[in-house]
Amino acid sequence: MIKAAITAVGGYVPDYILTNEELSTMVDTNDEWITSRTGIKERRILKEEGKALSDMCVEAVNQILKKKNISAEEIDMIIVGTITGDYAFPSTANVICDKIGAKNAWGYDLSAACSGFLYGLSTGAQFIETGKYKKVIVIGGDKMSSIIDYTRRETCIIFGDGAGAVLLEPTMEDVGIKDFLLKSDGAGRNYLYTPAGGSLLPTSHETVDARQHFVHQDGQMVYKFAVKGMADVSAEILERNKLTGDDITWLVPHQANKRIIDATAQRVGIPEQKVMMNIERYGNTTGGTIPLLLWDYESKLKKGDNLIISAFGGGFTWGSIYLKWAY
Ligand code: UT7
Repeated sequence: MIKAAITAVGGYVPDYILTNEELSTMVDTNDEWITSRTGIKERRILKEEGKALSDMCVEAVNQILKKKNISAEEIDMIIVGTITGDYAFPSTANVICDKIGAKNAWGYDLSAACSGFLYGLSTGAQFIETGKYKKVIVIGGDKMSSIIDYTRRETCIIFGDGAGAVLLEPTMEDVGIKDFLLKSDGAGRNYLYTPAGGSLLPTSHETVDARQHFVHQDGQMVYKFAVKGMADVSAEILERNKLTGDDITWLVPHQANKRIIDATAQRVGIPEQKVMMNIERYGNTTGGTIPLLLWDYESKLKKGDNLIISAFGGGFTWGSIYLKWAY
């Protein structure tokens, strides 16, 4: 049976570093509060005018093309998990195809907030497993600074900008994506969302004055659901694949809050040294966290390693993927 395997990883974070110290000069906060409540020390911000999500994605995809020595024309498809596309439409996938010269590819953006990369990876894998395509690029990324209110300390300390990408290719070996378990519950939609700018509340002077074009989050409520959702789904995917924490080489958790990550790892019995973490440097890049972890840890990964990827985010959306590393 054909399996879909990740065969390369690329990533990009902007150069500008927004530290907890700098945030303390913008809102009423401090390094001690942010570090102890979230684990975040700094995040990257895409400051250059005229630069958008697609520019970060292009950097990540070009790294993959270079590493694998393949041309953009060989790509069959691009899927982008994001909530901060260049435009409401057309899709950022479309823009990326044009910018890199992927003339034979098509694709789309997928909106699942922090679970965007998981949804995208599961979706992209289907096109490989059916035998339809040979090279699918799945990207997760966000320019969160474009929708964050830097006068609100509850949200501006958490988020950052960045994008990562993976190449999916077919394999007949016992590696690649083994299982996915994805969930959503729209009843949670008003706990973490951007109120205006959609068809429910189109942008107007009033919505801008009321700052409704920025992310609104009920942090405590999301925290409660995230701790339970991410731990439950990780435990469930282990159980149904007859695995325990001992069988797992790496837990790859969405980077929203170190306390949520610790709770998930503890629940599934995975010790801290087997948990990928870079929240202290990048904060929460929404769709970007998971591919950026794979990018940062790529040199430590070995063929056959068992990875559990888990995320929880706005929507609510959440899920887990079990995969065996392929190289
Ligand atoms: O990736 C998408 C999914 N998102 C998440 O998973 C985020 C989940 N939520 C969280 O991570 C946490 O709820 C936050 C990090 C957002 C907030 O941490 P918390 O421990 O839940 O804080 P809180 O909202 O309960 O606020 C505690 C106190 C409040 O003051 P009072 O009312 O006790 O006087 C807040 O006003 O901390 C205050 N506070 C701050 N103080 C300093 C809130 N934000 C800040 C801040 N600096 N940045």
